[in-house]
Amino acid sequence: MLEIILLALSCCGILADNDETVFRLPGDTIPLSYNLKFVDLLNDDFSYNGVTKILIQVKSTTTVLTLNAFELDIKNVKVVDTELSREINVTNFELIKKNEQLKVNLKEPWLIAGRQYNVEITYNGTLRTDMTGLYRSSYKDEESNATRWLAISQFEPTYARRAFPCYDEPGFKTPFQITIVKTKKTQISLSNYPVYKEYQDVQTGKFVSDYPVTEPMPTYLVAISVSEFVEKSSNDNKFHVYTHKEYINQTDYIREKAPKLLNLMEVFTGISYPIDKMDLLAVPDFAAGAMENWGLNTYQEKYLLISEKSTEKSKELVTTVVQHELTHQWFGNLVTCAWWDYLWLNEAFATFFEYFAVQVAEPEWRMEELFVIEQHQAALSYDQRPRHAITSSVQSPDEIEGIFDGISYDKGASVLRMLKYTLGSKLFRDSLILYLKTHKYASAEPNNLWDAIDSVLFDTEYKLADNVQVRDFMRSWTENPGYPVLSVTAKTKNTLSVTQKRFLVDKKDESVQPKWYIGLTYTTQQKNEFHDVQPVAWLKPSDDEKTIKFNSDEGWVIFNVQSTGFYRVNYDLNNWGLLIDQLRSDPKAIHVLNRAQLIDDAFNLARGGELPFTVPFELISYLDNENDFIPWYSAYNGISYAFDRMRRCDFVGPKMQNFTRNLAAKVYSKVNKLYEDKHDRRHLTVTSFDAFSSWACKFEVPECIESATAYFKTWQSGIDIPADIKEAALCTGVRNGGEREWNDVFNLYLNTFSTSERQAAQLALACSKNTTILNNYLEILLQGENCTIRPNHYRLMIKSLASTPVGIDVMTKFLKDRWQDSLKLMWNGEETIKSMYSTLASKVSIKSEIDQLNAVKNQTGLPLSLSSSFNASHYEVELNLRYFKKAHDQLHNWFGDSSITTPAPTLSSATSISSISNIILCLIIIMTCFLFK
Ligand SMILES: *[C@@H]1O[C@H](CO)[C@@H](O)[C@H](O)[C@H]1NC(C)=O
Ligand SMILES: *[C@@H]1O[C@H](CO)[C@@H](O)[C@H](O)[C@H]1NC(C)=O
Ligand SMILES: *[C@@H]1O[C@H](CO)[C@@H](O)[C@H](O)[C@H]1NC(C)=O
Ligand SMILES: *[C@@H]1O[C@H](CO)[C@@H](O)[C@H](O)[C@H]1NC(C)=O
Ligand SMILES: *[C@@H]1O[C@H](CO)[C@@H](O)[C@H](O)[C@H]1NC(C)=O
Ligand SMILES: *[C@@H]1O[C@H](CO)[C@@H](O)[C@H](O)[C@H]1NC(C)=O
Ligand SMILES: [Zn+2]
Repeated sequence: MLEIILLALSCCGILADNDETVFRLPGDTIPLSYNLKFVDLLNDDFSYNGVTKILIQVKSTTTVLTLNAFELDIKNVKVVDTELSREINVTNFELIKKNEQLKVNLKEPWLIAGRQYNVEITYNGTLRTDMTGLYRSSYKDEESNATRWLAISQFEPTYARRAFPCYDEPGFKTPFQITIVKTKKTQISLSNYPVYKEYQDVQTGKFVSDYPVTEPMPTYLVAISVSEFVEKSSNDNKFHVYTHKEYINQTDYIREKAPKLLNLMEVFTGISYPIDKMDLLAVPDFAAGAMENWGLNTYQEKYLLISEKSTEKSKELVTTVVQHELTHQWFGNLVTCAWWDYLWLNEAFATFFEYFAVQVAEPEWRMEELFVIEQHQAALSYDQRPRHAITSSVQSPDEIEGIFDGISYDKGASVLRMLKYTLGSKLFRDSLILYLKTHKYASAEPNNLWDAIDSVLFDTEYKLADNVQVRDFMRSWTENPGYPVLSVTAKTKNTLSVTQKRFLVDKKDESVQPKWYIGLTYTTQQKNEFHDVQPVAWLKPSDDEKTIKFNSDEGWVIFNVQSTGFYRVNYDLNNWGLLIDQLRSDPKAIHVLNRAQLIDDAFNLARGGELPFTVPFELISYLDNENDFIPWYSAYNGISYAFDRMRRCDFVGPKMQNFTRNLAAKVYSKVNKLYEDKHDRRHLTVTSFDAFSSWACKFEVPECIESATAYFKTWQSGIDIPADIKEAALCTGVRNGGEREWNDVFNLYLNTFSTSERQAAQLALACSKNTTILNNYLEILLQGENCTIRPNHYRLMIKSLASTPVGIDVMTKFLKDRWQDSLKLMWNGEETIKSMYSTLASKVSIKSEIDQLNAVKNQTGLPLSLSSSFNASHYEVELNLRYFKKAHDQLHNWFGDSSITTPAPTLSSATSISSISNIILCLIIIMTCFLFK
């Protein structure tokens, strides 16, 4: 599944299960095969009937048959011994809601170990509205102006039980035989495999589709759909893309591309894709990003459809998301994680190949380098707060849902990248092939992967340096939570000392100190060798310190070449100073990925209290000379985080705003020159033009505003805006406009056929500075059934509103005044309000904002579930205040000084605030900021 991960927000990690509820199935019986029948799917009243037949094997004699089922009405259960066809009578059956289980109590002679039984369950259900299980989704048919419905499944991770009774755990892989019965001739049905027989039942007049028996697969990969979608196929006729009539001409891009992406995986793994077809469905209402059901992938429309109005970044997203799901056909579908503890065996690989397979399909896109920004650095940032380990123990559906996060996806993929560079590409690939071939059509645990690697290394007689075992190395990364910071300091004239400790920006608990196997790679100013990324030595958990020969004549030193290791590196201030000098004089002497790493590490080390804030701020002054956009993204992330939190201070806030505007102006000018003047249409230039225009216009860089305003004006007169500047142009138009401009953009949001344009419009709606307009925008969510904003757009709506001070103000007031109506009228009201609160908690900074948010939390009459969630989210406010306190005096000092343009600073003097007068000055300023903001 491609989860839309909110890296910054997810708050609570995995909670311990203190309830005695048993969520796992007992294992006394197991399924051997299923026969599923869904009757009257997609009726006018959305009800359906089901018959599930399961052939089971009894492992140990039992009086109770336990399955998973949830919110289904079970009508009858029949159990028959297969050998003698003798029925085992049922005493009774009950649904146990909190366990999501169906328990069938049997009469003597019960179920006997070693025997097989046919279990037949008849039941009925209703198509759900929460985008789980078998659910309904709708769209408007433009010709008739009628609402059209479709039925679609989303079973991962624990939602198959919401559609049919089953053994709903990924380790149970069996063949499935599926039958779908429809009532209307205009409807088409789809399932994992190509239909085997379609006919009209002469007695009932209904339309029956029979699907063939599948290869063994887990319940979460079963897929069914009934709709009135239309279809277009790829040239090789293997891919069939489905959407509604009006959107079908937006499928050309992916129809042409998907066969290549699938072929890449076939070539890489040496294993053919086993099904004769692959359907790609664009589903209007979809909770995750996309889902890899074997042979029937489902997607949010924006991750599948491309039109002439799509941005360059949309093309990249469609390509990587489809690559993600296609990768799952091997990693996940062919070889499945044995239990959700090992979800990363599915998701880390799928995320890894989003970049490393697309790199082969689109060598110009620089995907391997984008990986470092979008996955590696995002994961470092997510994982510097207390989180679960990559392999972690989960039981309940909520816990399982909770690990579809930045650890299983981004960190997992980053650790795989580290493994790839440690082993080298060939051994890495050989190991994956052996792993897949050994466990195909079965399930796997991490040990199976380590075994495959050991075996390949044995064959080639390959050994890691310092006698490190791959299993020990990888277990230290997948079983420990968090990651280390490497500390590199001059020890003697001729040696460096290298040590490790866990890097955390809050909740530092010194008593638990995990240690990692860290493969060391480094280079110096003199060597200047950024090519070799295989570790030359290892820092092991048992080492207190590693000493490296190094002569100070060699200039600066950089560890973690090309940022391949999943850790941060800190240096003594002398080395940071040398690196800054180097970057200012000739940045290209340092590899681009290490430039991005230095920026990202410096900002976050400062956040963690390991480095003065002056270092990242001094460091990024080199960006004048930075013509590669990759490091700019790291700078954008670092400075945006700081800016949001420094708004609190009257002095530093405006200085930061000016500083950020100057930076944004710089990168805007660079990218604008390439895009507009030189007509450079390389992928990263175009996507950066989009991203940095939006940044520059947000900070009101005059050149950007001027250009965006001109585009907006021509748009109002009926001329379209180029896709990659549309977000900036619409946002600027709305911000500087009134009700009319907002309504124009809202209508675009409602009516456009382009998903790219819809998203640009949606983001722009939050750019207004008018509180009435923004409040009316939020009020739309209270329109109940008729709400014109789709549930899967709520998240972006909330996030975009929380990105401006006016939006923060309006959303906080809305929460305070409207939480009761929200619970009643809003789709999934409770979760939506919680999400609003936690988003606000991570963004408020000024005293009045915090006071207002506290007032929401402290008002009387809040239901317990809301107040406890609000209280938990409130920790984000404290953390941000802590960041502010840490950064404030240093930044005040730095901004005070930086008006004098000094050459390269001596860092030690800039950072040690030693004189008493300075300390007093800072105290006064801190107090002033707290008092008046
Ligand atoms: C099962 O139930 C049927 C009908 O109620 C009854 O005739 C039969 O004797 C029962 N069998 C057993 C083994 O209890
Ligand atoms: C099953 O059908 C009955 C009768 O039509 C209906 O009342 C009930 O809501 C249905 N159950 C589910 C879970 O949809
Ligand atoms: C289409 O249907 C909507 C709601 O069902 C209605 O408000 C609108 O006026 C209709 N438009 C046309 C052109 O019939
Ligand atoms: C697709 O069709 C819509 C109308 O149905 C049209 O507006 C649009 O220009 C078409 N796009 C392409 C790429 O043909
Ligand atoms: C804003 O930045 C510019 C360019 O560095 C500088 O000239 C100006 O003095 C700054 N303004 C403020 C208010 O700090
Ligand atoms: C905000 O928008 C409302 C509704 O269009 C308008 O009446 C009001 O004058 C606007 N307020 C400001 C300050 O522009
Ligand atoms: Zn996935």
